[in-house]
Amino acid sequence: MENRDKLMKEIGENEMAFPLTFKEWEDVAKEKMITGGYQYVSKGAGSEETAKRNRTALEKWSIIPRMLNDVSTVDVTTELLGNKYASPFLLSPIGMQKLAHTNGEIATAQACKKFMVPFILSTVSSCSIEEVAEVSNGPKWFQLYWSHENPEVSYSMIHRAEKAGYEAIVVTVDTVMAGWREGDMKAGFSPLSLGYGSGNYKTDPVFMASLKDKEEQSIIEEILTHIQHPQLTWDAIAEIKKRTTLPIILKGILHKEDALLAVKYGVDGIIVSNHGGRQLDGVIASIDALAEIKEVIDKQIPILFDSGVRRGVDAVKALAIGADAVCIGRPYLYGLAAHGKVGVEKVIERFIQETEVTLGLAGIARLAEIERLGMKREK
Ligand SMILES: Cc1cc2nc3c(=O)[nH]c(=O)nc-3n(C[C@H](O)[C@H](O)[C@H](O)COP(=O)(O)O)c2cc1C
Repeated sequence: MENRDKLMKEIGENEMAFPLTFKEWEDVAKEKMITGGYQYVSKGAGSEETAKRNRTALEKWSIIPRMLNDVSTVDVTTELLGNKYASPFLLSPIGMQKLAHTNGEIATAQACKKFMVPFILSTVSSCSIEEVAEVSNGPKWFQLYWSHENPEVSYSMIHRAEKAGYEAIVVTVDTVMAGWREGDMKAGFSPLSLGYGSGNYKTDPVFMASLKDKEEQSIIEEILTHIQHPQLTWDAIAEIKKRTTLPIILKGILHKEDALLAVKYGVDGIIVSNHGGRQLDGVIASIDALAEIKEVIDKQIPILFDSGVRRGVDAVKALAIGADAVCIGRPYLYGLAAHGKVGVEKVIERFIQETEVTLGLAGIARLAEIERLGMKREK
C-alpha cells in the first residue's frame, strides 16, 4: 500500500510537468501541431460512427474482479511469438510521425526501447527502416502496405526489415484504399503528398530503380499510386509468407471467418483493429469484434488488439476478453507531439503503471491468470 501511495505521489509531482490523461495529452498536442496535422491524426472516417463506437463499446464492458488474492507484486510480463516482453504493450504503426515531431519515428523507437515495448514501424514512416534500427536495438516490427503496383517493392521492404533486425511483419489489410475522411478532404490536407511518408520509399533500391524520373514530385506521385492496393487477396498473403522467415501478422481483421482464414493460410497472428475508425466507418467496435473472434480462434494464434485504447483499464478489458497483447495508438502520438521522446516514454510508463494497479485491484497477480476475471457487456 505504501508503495502505491509513493507511486501516486511521484506521478502527481511528475505530472506538474507532463499531462496525465488522454485528453490532456491531446490538448497539448493540438497546440503544438499544425492544424491540418492535428485534424489528420485525431479524426475518424465518415461521420466518425466507428471512432466513437470504439469508446462507447469499451465503456460498456465491465470487469468483474476477484478478491482475496495476494497482489503485493503484479507480473505483467507477456509471451508473444516465442519472445518474452516486459509488458503486454506494443505501439501501433502510425505513419508520417514527423507531422507530430521533428524527430519522428526515431524518437518513438528510442522511447520504446526503454520499456522493451515493440515498436511497429509503418510503411509510410517519415524515417526509414534502417534509420530507426540504427537508433534503437529494442524490439521492432515492420508494418507493410502491400504494393500491388510492384510487389517487388514490398518484398524489398520485407527483406530490408529482416536485415535490419525487425522481428515480425504486420500486413495491414483494412487500407486497400484511403478512408472517406471528410476533414482532410475539406482542408485539402494530404501529408503523403507533402512528403511526410516517403522515408522507406526514397531509400528503397527497387522502388527508386523503377522510377523514370527521380524528381521529388514524381517520387510522391509514384508513392500515391503504390499505396492503393484494392487487388489485395489471400493469395498475396500466401506469397508474402513464402518470401520471409519472419512471422506474419494481419492487421485489421474484424470478422471471425477472416480470423479463421488467417489460421488456414498459416498466418502467425492477427491484430483485431478497425484502424481507430479511420478506414471503413460504420463497422463494429474493435472490442466487440475481439470477443467474437476470441471464441473461434481459441488460442490457435495470438490475437493482438487496438482501436480506442486510452488507458490501462481499457487494455485490461481487452486482455480479459481475449487479447494476447494490446497496441497503443493515438495516445503515444500525442505524447510524441507534446514532448518528443520523453512524451512517448511517459505515455508508455503510465499505461504500464495503470495496468499494474488495475490488475492488482482486480485480484490478478499474474497477467497469465487474467482468464480468472469475469467480463460483462451491457446492451
Ligand atoms: C495518424 C494515424 C496514422 C496511422 N497510420 C497507420 C499506418 O501507417 N499503418 C497502419 O497499419 N495503421 C495506421 N494507423 C492505425 C493505427 O495503427 C491504429 O490501428 C489506430 O491508431 C488505433 O486506434 P486508436 O488510435 O484510436 O487507438 C494510423 C492511425 C493514425 C491515428
